[in-house]
Amino acid sequence: MKTLVVGANGQIGRQFCELARRGGMSLRAMIRDSDQQPWFHERGIDTVIGDLESDIHQAFNGCDQVIFCAGSGPHTGPDKTLMIDLHGAIRCVDLAVERGLERFIMVSALRANDPMAAPAKLRPYMAAKFAADAYLRSARIPHVILKPGKLTDAPATRQVATALEHAQGIEVSRGNVAHALLYLSQARMLKNREFDLLDGESSIAMALL
Ligand SMILES: NC(=O)c1ccc[n+]([C@@H]2O[C@H](COP(=O)([O-])OP(=O)(O)OC[C@H]3O[C@@H](n4cnc5c(N)ncnc54)[C@H](OP(=O)(O)O)[C@@H]3O)[C@@H](O)[C@H]2O)c1
Repeated sequence: MKTLVVGANGQIGRQFCELARRGGMSLRAMIRDSDQQPWFHERGIDTVIGDLESDIHQAFNGCDQVIFCAGSGPHTGPDKTLMIDLHGAIRCVDLAVERGLERFIMVSALRANDPMAAPAKLRPYMAAKFAADAYLRSARIPHVILKPGKLTDAPATRQVATALEHAQGIEVSRGNVAHALLYLSQARMLKNREFDLLDGESSIAMALL
């Protein structure tokens, strides 16, 4: 089973790739730039160069599932939010459906189901996530939508919560997200499920049942 990681060079993406490699998973890391290749090649991870704003067809060849953890980030404008977080995600869903892939794992965001509840500055991003999630739900591909809270760089504890009342706040470390993605990418029985993800006190396997 080969997993395509879209956004592999990101902070979550790299942590996931490192964990997955140690776990013996077969990966293809989609990255934007050949300068990013050495980090992956040193770890024996296959790469493909692909930009969500251009042709990415070939990245999907021979893959069985996709993890989408790309993001336009906080330093770009609504144009990139539209083209990467929304249209980039939708194009990946379409390609995964077209190629008959087994599953699509989407990194969304906590409360993406209610963009108007977010601070005004975050609403375009939340609206993009809302629409990309809706598109995935209605697509003909089994999926898992993971909705992390505010990301931090705290060390991974592998202790999480999927509900605010059991969480330590609205934050989750990128390391815990990477561990959750590792679990989800191997839990092939999980289909058409959605999970909020926060730092908490349950093991990942118990939380993502
Ligand atoms: N920030 C938060 O609090 C928060 C909360 C919930 C969910 N999320 C979600 O978490 C995910 C990633 O978080 P992170 O901290 O790992 O972000 P990150 O470090 O900024 O990584 C984002 C990745 O997306 C890639 N990317 C950007 N534009 C692209 C394009 N046009 N084509 C292909 N790849 C592109 C970047 O490529 P380069 O490496 O080449 O720049 C980077 O590798 C995103 O899906 C984000 O929406 C974030």
